[in-house]
Amino acid sequence: MSPSQPLQAAPRPFLKWAGGKRQLLDQFERFLPEAAVVNRYLEPFAGSGAVFFRVRSLLFPTRTILADSNEELINVYAVIQSDVEALITLLRRHRRLHGREHYYAMRGKNPARLGETARAARFIYLNKTCFNGLYRVNSRGLFNVPMGRYVNPPILDEDNLRAVSEALRGVKLLRAPFEKTLDYARPGDFIYFDPPYHPLSDTSYFTAYTEGTFRAEDQRALARMVAELHRRGCHLMLSNSDVDPILRLYDHPEFHIGRVAARRNINSRADRRGQVSEVVITNYHPRAAAAEDAAGRRRPGRSAPQSRPALPQPRI
Ligand SMILES: C[S@@+](CC[C@H](N)C(=O)[O-])C[C@H]1O[C@@H](n2cnc3c(N)ncnc32)[C@H](O)[C@@H]1O
Repeated sequence: MSPSQPLQAAPRPFLKWAGGKRQLLDQFERFLPEAAVVNRYLEPFAGSGAVFFRVRSLLFPTRTILADSNEELINVYAVIQSDVEALITLLRRHRRLHGREHYYAMRGKNPARLGETARAARFIYLNKTCFNGLYRVNSRGLFNVPMGRYVNPPILDEDNLRAVSEALRGVKLLRAPFEKTLDYARPGDFIYFDPPYHPLSDTSYFTAYTEGTFRAEDQRALARMVAELHRRGCHLMLSNSDVDPILRLYDHPEFHIGRVAARRNINSRADRRGQVSEVVITNYHPRAAAAEDAAGRRRPGRSAPQSRPALPQPRI
């Protein structure tokens, strides 16, 4: 690069994604492992990639595998990785044509009948212009979220898409259910798990990222897999709702439980949004604990679950 060329901006998530961790990244840094122990980075619930972008800039993994069960999402990553300029050209067209008629015409298309690049452009376009950035499909797997009411939706950020494309260079992308992690995880890998949240209450089950749902038995299967990967010698970090069923699943003598305060805004009713506590579980001594130990506030070893931060109770 010549000295006169501007530095490329740091890549940021290019999608609105329910459960996306962008707002929590600064709090998450305390729970990451030391860069020195990180070689390969795996993220089986990649979503918008918020954590990947931060891990990449802080821990410099030599190899990354991003996986998600959402086929549309993995296709978008693959197209950004392989042909970002063609994608930008199509998004320019969507931006020009955007309006009610164009939105519903695009929504009505079956993505399986589109080429990969057109399919990725449609996905980003709908994500940026639909109601609340939701991803919801009907029983036939077709996207069915109504158009949002935005005056000037940010359909295209060319610089960021190019920066993301650069960040994805050499990254292995997998459309896979989380159970497949067992097939590719190796001792020493750093793996971050961000499954769909365990519901805060019986009526707040939001898991509609894919045609399927993520149920209590999936949370249990994930916890069994995490225990297996712990035995295998991987460095593990997992976030989820701060609720007793999750705490019971990860009640393990070598796991540390920390907490962060999160805004959950996937509820369409504004009066039901608010701050909630989330747990961050690691099987290594997190930076936060190390700092507290250094300050003489905690002994190393098993972390007793910390008291929950005083947060307004969710009204869900
Ligand atoms: C909470 S979101 C991850 C958000 C991500 N960390 C971010 O910052 O954007 C959970 C993700 O899990 C994916 N998912 C749902 N069920 C899955 C499954 N059974 N296996 C793998 N991925 C799954 C969803 O498509 C969604 O992208």
